[in-house]
Amino acid sequence: MPRGRPAAGPGVSAREERGFRALMDLAHGFMASQVLFAGCALGVFDAAALGPVDAAALARSSGLSPRGTRLLLDACAGLGLLRRRRRRGAGPGRGPAYTNSALASAFLVSGSPLSQRSLLLYLAGTTYLCWARLADGVREGRSQYGRAVGVDTDDPFTAIYRSEAERLLFMRGLQETWSLCGGRVLAAFDLSPFRVICDLGGGSGALARQAARLYPGSEVTVFETPEVAAAARAHFPPPADEEGVGPRVRFLSGDFFRSPLPPADLYILARVLHDWADAACVALLGRVRGALRPGGAVLLVESVLSPGGAGPTRTLLLSLTMLLQARGRERTEAEYRGLAARAGFSRLRLRRPRGPYHAMMAARGGEAAGAGRGAESPVGRGAGSDVGDQE
Ligand SMILES: C[S@@+](CC[C@H](N)C(=O)[O-])C[C@H]1O[C@@H](n2cnc3c(N)ncnc32)[C@H](O)[C@@H]1O
Repeated sequence: MPRGRPAAGPGVSAREERGFRALMDLAHGFMASQVLFAGCALGVFDAAALGPVDAAALARSSGLSPRGTRLLLDACAGLGLLRRRRRRGAGPGRGPAYTNSALASAFLVSGSPLSQRSLLLYLAGTTYLCWARLADGVREGRSQYGRAVGVDTDDPFTAIYRSEAERLLFMRGLQETWSLCGGRVLAAFDLSPFRVICDLGGGSGALARQAARLYPGSEVTVFETPEVAAAARAHFPPPADEEGVGPRVRFLSGDFFRSPLPPADLYILARVLHDWADAACVALLGRVRGALRPGGAVLLVESVLSPGGAGPTRTLLLSLTMLLQARGRERTEAEYRGLAARAGFSRLRLRRPRGPYHAMMAARGGEAAGAGRGAESPVGRGAGSDVGDQE
């Protein structure tokens, strides 16, 4: 028997026991995810937001099996998503009452300001199916949409937007991130010197709206594919408390690899470069550089790997998602600096606000950056692009 701490069982050291537990936690991680996903999909947390939930009553009202519902609610409680309380007078047939934990109230209830429910439903559907093909993805080095959902294409967004329902869920899911992290990434650098801002591939416009609110002197355009721009106009109206901000955010549609880009003082590319291989990133950044006004800059928002690329783990997992669902990967600051330099940008600076997303600012090479705190306004004022539709 190895010397040191006593064995946890015959022939098993305490260290091996700990390792085994860690291994089992990893192996069962997908089950915990599925409990979370099923709770969201079946409306468990929305029901619990209205008052304590009884498994039998929830099963009846939602058309679920009583046995399955009870087991799911108990598993949710075990994972800290619900609180489980024994009711007075409990007897046979009278089960516990379940209420939302603080985590569930904040993030899992539809309509809560920080709700991540759409993101979770997207992960539960498409992303989970692609991840089930991880070994194939690693073997082949390409997206697994073909096997996972029957859409075999090398164009990630043809697969991502394979139906209007998928498009809307993807847009809703992505925008939920910004309710939590948007303000932080936009405040990481002082963007007030930039009058005309263009959010390239800006999805539903959630981040653009926050930029317009944070920098009231700016005019913000979202440049998106025609279908996403149309869906944004139809399904993502500005929230009522942003009266007055809406008109300063407009949508322009086109293909950012081919169409003329509207001139801007600042381009934001949030979670765009990670979708693409290096050559496409350099081509896109080159187009951005060409369309920038003098003194302009680009703001990249990504989950940046630590130097050397060994972490954080969640970013490494996101990188595999890019393998399975797109053409890119997550990168280190040095790698983003290299891509930006190849496209003619200089002096890329990284800021890491709290949270999973980081901000990098780079100026057009050979020019003074207008991006630093307290910098002079870099550009002429008031000349917005006159193409596209007003929102
Ligand atoms: C990963 S999403 C990021 C969305 C948004 N920036 C965010 O962070 O929530 C990438 C976005 O790029 C857009 N996109 C992809 N290819 C595009 C193209 N060729 N032209 C314009 N937009 C494109 C997609 O529609 C999608 O909204």
